[in-house]
Amino acid sequence: MKRITALLTALALLMGVIVLAEDAVNYKSDFSAGTDGWYARSAGGASVSVTEEKTLAITGRSENWHSMGRDFALTAGERYKVRVLVRQTEVQATRLILSVAHSRGGQETYENITSAAVPRDRWTELSAMYLAGDYDRFVLYVETGDAPSLSYEIKDFSVEWRKTETWPAGESGSALPSLKDAYAPYFRLGTSVTRNEAMSATRMHFCREQFNILTPGNELKPDSVLDVAASRKLAAEDDTAVAVHFTAATPMLNFAKANGIPVHGHTLVWHSQTPEAFFHVGYDTSKPYVTREVMLARLEHYISAVMSWTEEHYPGVIVSWDVVNEAVDDGKTTLRTSSRWLAIVGGDYVLKAFELARKYAPEGVLLYYNDYNTAYEPKQTGIVNLLKQLQAAGVVDGYGFQMHHDIRQPSFSAISASFKRIAALGLRLRISELDVTVPASTAANFEAQAKLYGLVMRLALSYADQVEAVQVWGITDDLSWRATQYPLLFNGNMTPKPAFYAVLEAAEQAK
Ligand code: XIL
Repeated sequence: MKRITALLTALALLMGVIVLAEDAVNYKSDFSAGTDGWYARSAGGASVSVTEEKTLAITGRSENWHSMGRDFALTAGERYKVRVLVRQTEVQATRLILSVAHSRGGQETYENITSAAVPRDRWTELSAMYLAGDYDRFVLYVETGDAPSLSYEIKDFSVEWRKTETWPAGESGSALPSLKDAYAPYFRLGTSVTRNEAMSATRMHFCREQFNILTPGNELKPDSVLDVAASRKLAAEDDTAVAVHFTAATPMLNFAKANGIPVHGHTLVWHSQTPEAFFHVGYDTSKPYVTREVMLARLEHYISAVMSWTEEHYPGVIVSWDVVNEAVDDGKTTLRTSSRWLAIVGGDYVLKAFELARKYAPEGVLLYYNDYNTAYEPKQTGIVNLLKQLQAAGVVDGYGFQMHHDIRQPSFSAISASFKRIAALGLRLRISELDVTVPASTAANFEAQAKLYGLVMRLALSYADQVEAVQVWGITDDLSWRATQYPLLFNGNMTPKPAFYAVLEAAEQAK
C-alpha cells in the first residue's frame, strides 16, 4: 500500500499535481499536458484552452459566472490557501473574483473567496485562506464582477492544505484561560462568526470556550436574508411584498441555540451588502426606484419578517440588533449621501427603521445604532446628533462602536473621549466589531497591538455598568476580513497572540 502511495505521489509530482495525504489537497496547475481537469462553467458558448505560454484561457463568455472551474476534493472544516495569477488584455481594469461553487444534497450555492482589480496586461494575484464548509462538492473558479464577455487567462493556480488547527494548550483546549470567564462579572465577550466557521466543529468548540455572545459576520445582512427571486415573484401581485430566507445564518443560529449562546443580529438597514433590486420597482434593477411609500412598506415587511421568523425558529436567541449600520458620512455630521435609503425614503429613514424595529422586535430585544470612526470629528458629532434624535423618539437602546482600529490611529485619547461623550447620553453600549490592524507582522507591532487592546478593554471595564458586550470581529487572523494586517487575538493556528493576554490581563486587574 505504501509503495502504491509512493508511486502515485511520484506520478502526481511528474504531472505537477502533488497529493499529500488522503484528506489533504495540495495542488498547483501545470497546463503542459492539457487543461488538467479545468473546464468551462457556462450554459454553452464559453470554452477553455491552453495557450502557447501554457496558461489557461477562457473565451466566448456572455455572463459574469461563465468561468474556468475545476473540482477539488476539499474537506469540510479544513483550511486551504488558494492562490492564482490572472491576466486580461481587453479593458483598462476590471474586477476578477476567485469563487467556490459548493453543493450539498445536489443543491449548489456560491461564495466569493477574494477579488482584485486587474489592470490591462498585468498578471495580478488573487489569494486568500478558505475554510471549507460542510459540503460534498467544491468547484473553485475565476469569474468576473462586471465584465460578462471579457476573455482572460489564469496560471499558477494553487491550493495548499493548512494543517488542522491544534489546541493552544492541553488536550481539550481548556488549559488556555477563557476570556468569557474572565469577563463574566462585567459583560459578555464575543466574536463574529461566519457560516463556514459555524460548520467547523473544531472551530466552534474553541469559540465556545472563549466567547459567550456571537454575531454572524455576514449572514444576517440584507444580501443574505432578502430572497430577491422570490420577492420578484411576489411583486407581480404586490410591489411592497418581501420574501426572506435564512439559509446562510442557520448553521450559526443552530449552534447558538444548542449551546445557549446569545446572538447579536447584524444588520437590518445598511447602504452596503444590500441587493440593489430591493430599491427598484418589481425588484428589477432595469426599472426605476420605488417611491418612498413603497420603500417604507417594504422596510416594514422586511423587519417584521426577520423578527417573526427568527423568534419563531430561534426563540430568545437573538438578544439585540443593529437596526441601522453606518448611516453617518465620514468627515461630516450629516447622513451618508451614497445610501439608497436616503435617496428613496429621505432623511427620516433611520428613525423609521427604528420605529419599525421597535414595533416588531420581541420584548426585551435591545436596538442599536452601529457605526465606525466614532473617535473622529466631525462624524462623532453627527453620530451624537442622530442618537439624540432617536432617543427623543424613544426608539433606540444603545450605540455600537465598531472600533476597526490600527496601532497607528486613532489615538487612544480620541477613542476614550468619544466613548465618554457617547456614554454621557445614557445609552447601553457595545463594542461591536473590535480589531486592531498592524502594518507588518513584527514582534514590536504585536506588542503595540496588545497594548491598544488592553487599553480599550480597560476603557470598556470602566463603563461596565453600561456595556452589554465587547465583540472582536473574528477569531483568527487568517480568516479576518483584514487578514493581511493580523488584527485579532489568535494566530491562524489558534494560538494566542500577545493581544489575547492583554485582554485577559485587563479583566484580571479589574478585580
Ligand atoms: C465585513 C465582513 O467581515 C466581510 O466578510 C464582508 O466582506 C464585508 O463586511 N463594518 C461592518 C461589518 O459593519 O458588517 C463589516 O463586515 C466590517 C465593517
